[in-house]
Amino acid sequence: MSSIESCYNLMDFRALARRRLPRMIFDYLDGGADDEVTLQRNLDSFGGYQLLPRVLRDVGEIDLSTTVQGQAVDLPVLLSPTGQTRMFHPDGERAVARAAAQAGTIYALSSVSSTSIEETAQASDGPKWFQIYVWRDREVIKEFIARSRQSHYQALCLTVDLAVTGNRERDLRNGLTFPTALNARTLLDILCHPRWLMRYLTTPKVEIANVGAANDGQANRDSLLAYISAQFDPTVTWADGAWMVDQWRGPFLIKGIATVEDAVRAVEIGASGIILSNHGGRQLDYAPAALDILPEVVAAVGGRTEILIDGGVRRGTDVIKALALGATAVMMGRPYLYALAAGGEAGVRRMFDLLQAEMRRDMALLGCRKISDLSPDMLRHLE
Ligand code: FNR
Repeated sequence: MSSIESCYNLMDFRALARRRLPRMIFDYLDGGADDEVTLQRNLDSFGGYQLLPRVLRDVGEIDLSTTVQGQAVDLPVLLSPTGQTRMFHPDGERAVARAAAQAGTIYALSSVSSTSIEETAQASDGPKWFQIYVWRDREVIKEFIARSRQSHYQALCLTVDLAVTGNRERDLRNGLTFPTALNARTLLDILCHPRWLMRYLTTPKVEIANVGAANDGQANRDSLLAYISAQFDPTVTWADGAWMVDQWRGPFLIKGIATVEDAVRAVEIGASGIILSNHGGRQLDYAPAALDILPEVVAAVGGRTEILIDGGVRRGTDVIKALALGATAVMMGRPYLYALAAGGEAGVRRMFDLLQAEMRRDMALLGCRKISDLSPDMLRHLE
């Protein structure tokens, strides 16, 4: 049986995860909205740039460290928030938090995580952000803010691209709906993954850990998810974002910005960082890839806020291209979930090792020793 040692790049973990997970779970991880045009564009956008190496420069020592929201990191790659991580491996968020801490980078915990704010904080002392959605009940938000502060999360990250949930047709076809609608094919497929099934059945019920109190621990998962989706508030406006910035009074990022206009508004309400993101192509299909809008956003608000991007980052060269165009750092979602599904914490550690090795090699070949050496003149845009 192949193992994480046979993975030599991030997409190798995808292939392994595909074998290890039942199809409905893999598709939930891997899929996007509608025709998955944005999902594909996220990956393709990096191909639009060539790298222009400078030679005969001393590249004996490569330094990948930088600072994000005042926090020193060893690698300019952070982990995007993803919900229900224990669906992919029973060690879930704890394993991811430990691997991120070991790599010296930041893990953003999702508000719909399967491990609580406090448990994740206890799992590692690495830097963490907490991601929130805008909930109907402001008391819930206040409670999240208090708990994040208490558990020493460094920043709050407000995701704004989920006014309603995107149309993910792979999930509909697989019956991964609420309530679930398993058919003979999906059931058979689950039975063909006994290792995953045994782990899933023998670990405590996967639930939305952070709202356990609101749920009294009584409701089943389906009604819990119904509760959560009822809590998402599609009537939210920038004023609510400003209220949250004010409540938190610390590093505050807005995730899911897709235009210059909204980047400017985020700066106006006091966001110390923005994350250009289309939710990994899972929300509005035909929304632009973050890399495609990065130059215009940097031109408009660079220097006034930190600009991060996520979506489709799979290679060291992808990270380098984003940073050369002015991003402070990049984030990634699916790659660490693939690696987790493939090999638990060891898988995510190996993912970081591979990515770090790629980046060191690529920086040396490009003639850059440190992150601040990266600039747009290292790139050529292909028409
Ligand atoms: C996500 N994403 C996400 N974003 C967020 O703000 N809160 C969340 O709970 C989730 N949940 C989630 C689950 C899964 C399975 C995926 C794949 C993604 C979006 C995520 O933070 C990020 O924006 C994308 O994953 C980035 O694209 P890549 O790196 O997956 O291509």
